[in-house]
Amino acid sequence: ITYVPEPFRIKMVETIRLLTREERARKIREAHHNVFNLRAEDVYIDLLTDSGTSAMSAEQWSGVMRGDEAYAGARSYFRLLDTGRALFGYEYVQPVHQGRAAEKVLFPLLMGPGQVAISNMFFDTTRAHVELAGARALDCVVPEARDTRAQVPFKGNMDTTRLERLIAEHPGQVAAVVMTITNNSAGGQPVSLRNMRDTAEICRRHGLPLVIDAARFAENAYFIQQREAEYRDWSVRDIVREFFRYGDAFTMSAKKDALVNMGGLIGVKSDPALVQRVKGNTIAFEGFTSYGGLSGRDLEALATGLEEGLDETYLRYRTGQVAYLASILDEHGIPYQSPPGGHGLFIDAQAMLPHIPYTQFPGQALAVELYVEAGIRTCDIGSFMLGNDPDTGEQLRADFEFTRLAVPRRVYTQAHLDVMAGALIAIQARAAQVPGYRITWEPPVLRHFQAELEPV
Ligand code: F0G
Repeated sequence: ITYVPEPFRIKMVETIRLLTREERARKIREAHHNVFNLRAEDVYIDLLTDSGTSAMSAEQWSGVMRGDEAYAGARSYFRLLDTGRALFGYEYVQPVHQGRAAEKVLFPLLMGPGQVAISNMFFDTTRAHVELAGARALDCVVPEARDTRAQVPFKGNMDTTRLERLIAEHPGQVAAVVMTITNNSAGGQPVSLRNMRDTAEICRRHGLPLVIDAARFAENAYFIQQREAEYRDWSVRDIVREFFRYGDAFTMSAKKDALVNMGGLIGVKSDPALVQRVKGNTIAFEGFTSYGGLSGRDLEALATGLEEGLDETYLRYRTGQVAYLASILDEHGIPYQSPPGGHGLFIDAQAMLPHIPYTQFPGQALAVELYVEAGIRTCDIGSFMLGNDPDTGEQLRADFEFTRLAVPRRVYTQAHLDVMAGALIAIQARAAQVPGYRITWEPPVLRHFQAELEPV
């Protein structure tokens, strides 16, 4: 497929450098084969995450200068409130410093010990905040998400049949249902509007609040326009509004689709009592309601970013980048979670490195190779990230062994994508020689950020 040209030109640049192969091999050894231990300046193309790594626009940067830094009642706050209300149709929108702060503020107000929350798939931090609130987190994604080769348009969907069953199995215990858009852990896969409507109907019937984890709400809406026939003629903006109509509240990491380096939001549709409690927790954890842990300039950049993230020309280019990379990999039979997702490609490392068992972390092995091969930093989304069973201490087996190439927004060019594809093709040619890894040291929780490894 052809590359969709950038709908922008470059006004400011940041130099990146490629170390020699010998230096890269040394750096990753010194980092104990954990990409989180690398210095960013030793990375040539950084695909560790699409979170907080976007390039801001000239409009956003000029907003930074206009930001109102008043402690209470800043103009920038009201601009953000108006923008959020208009886009999502929610009565209240609360800024916070990032996505997990939104979760920390909202989740304890919805759930507690002895309860469960059910999601199409929890992201690590949403799962952690469900558990910190004392509840248990259950994943309920459609089964076809687990087959990386299945060409299904909405692999991020909630399995609504299983949702009904889980609700029946936990009578009176389900505190909330969480719809993650796009479904990050399943590969940036979208959720259809039909699935959202069906899920909302089930929630209404059982009197359960439906919370949207909305980090990639714009990419999800664009996929609905492209893939769900009923909405082909709708604008992305109208699709967003329609989608949010079925939710009761949302948490959002604004570091993704809202194109800022830091920021988050909580939305409440129409529940004045909940709004009051959200404000109370925000003041305790984040700061006064009119800034929520952000500077006035951040609020200004965020309000502009929310609008820019919905521009359809931009979204076509954005999803086009990922599809372009996927199309090169198709020519070489390199397997990934297909169809390509919104914020990056999730390489099926288990299929690419079949000789490495999950206990030796194929996703991590491929991440190390990509750094050595081309200075590209990615991360494991598999058994290395999942960790050990807290009760038995045994290595858990993840549903997927992915190496995620998360593409920052408005940052890399077609030539950079060609470098990514070239590196994967070179590694595929010597796949049988790629070693697995064993952990030599690990901390008790969230180990993948700090663990040390060595080749087997
Ligand atoms: N929800 C989803 C679906 C996410 O992908 C993330 C972050 C969060 C919540 C938490 O937001 O980082 O602003 O506190 N995902 C990043 C990633 C870190 O790399 O996928 P945060």
